[in-house]
Amino acid sequence: MADKMKPPAYAGAVKNVTVSTLLDMKRKGVKIAMLTAYDFPTARLAEEAGVDVILVGDSVGMTKLGYESTLPVTIDEMLHHTKAVKRGMSRALLVADMPYLSYEIDLKEAVRNAGRLLKEGGAHAVKVEGGMEVAATIKEFLKINVPVFGHLGLTPQAVNRLGGYKVQGRSPEAAEKILTEARILEGAGVCAVVLECVPADLAKEITKRLQVPTIGIGAGPHCDGQVLVSDDMLGLSEAGPTKFVKRYADLRAQSLKAIGDYCREVRDGSFPGPEHSFTSQK
Ligand code: KIV
Repeated sequence: MADKMKPPAYAGAVKNVTVSTLLDMKRKGVKIAMLTAYDFPTARLAEEAGVDVILVGDSVGMTKLGYESTLPVTIDEMLHHTKAVKRGMSRALLVADMPYLSYEIDLKEAVRNAGRLLKEGGAHAVKVEGGMEVAATIKEFLKINVPVFGHLGLTPQAVNRLGGYKVQGRSPEAAEKILTEARILEGAGVCAVVLECVPADLAKEITKRLQVPTIGIGAGPHCDGQVLVSDDMLGLSEAGPTKFVKRYADLRAQSLKAIGDYCREVRDGSFPGPEHSFTSQK
């Protein structure tokens, strides 16, 4: 296709996304595309490609910081990555995760941490994991004008209590509990709810019952939007594919080949060639 006939990279994406835009998208049946980013270049790419919501997930702990889970991630690490992402974007909605122990212990400290993600990090909203136990915290965040995303189902900060990264809400009782918690979160004032690793029919029911949008990850096709971890969908992660992740690229294999080729060419002297070298002035 000739260049001028190409649609703009953001075709289909909504411009200047706010929390009200998300409600509007749900009402109009326009699906929300959300993706994680942890740095400036990925934020640039995500925006250019048309992502509506960029999440600086605490998955940064595993994808970029080499931790085994999200639990060690600190508020300062979240701020560092949120600031970098913010510099790479101007159109999408920026959501930053509240990391483990930054909101569970002391309400005043929780409110300050949430406010810092907006004031210093430049986020437009924060995300917290859990149901009933975070409802009061969410209401406090709203008092200082911090919009909040909820997160139910497989909540990675609770991995030790859940006994692993497992699908949640499979039994009728467990499904009912997640549905109730989704309504509690909505009642507390969240602007969206992430549903992670729950059966598709449960996500469908929650999506139908809530006024605010649901964003699914491993939650089937009926949510109002979808989110993936960018490293997973780009094929950068070392871990084998998870059922719910679609790999749209294989950047790890491509990077390994490129770096391997570079090492070989340095060793056999074929890099740098004359085209990569400077000559003196004559
Ligand atoms: O931290 C993260 O990347 C997340 C997504 C999986 C929703 O919370």
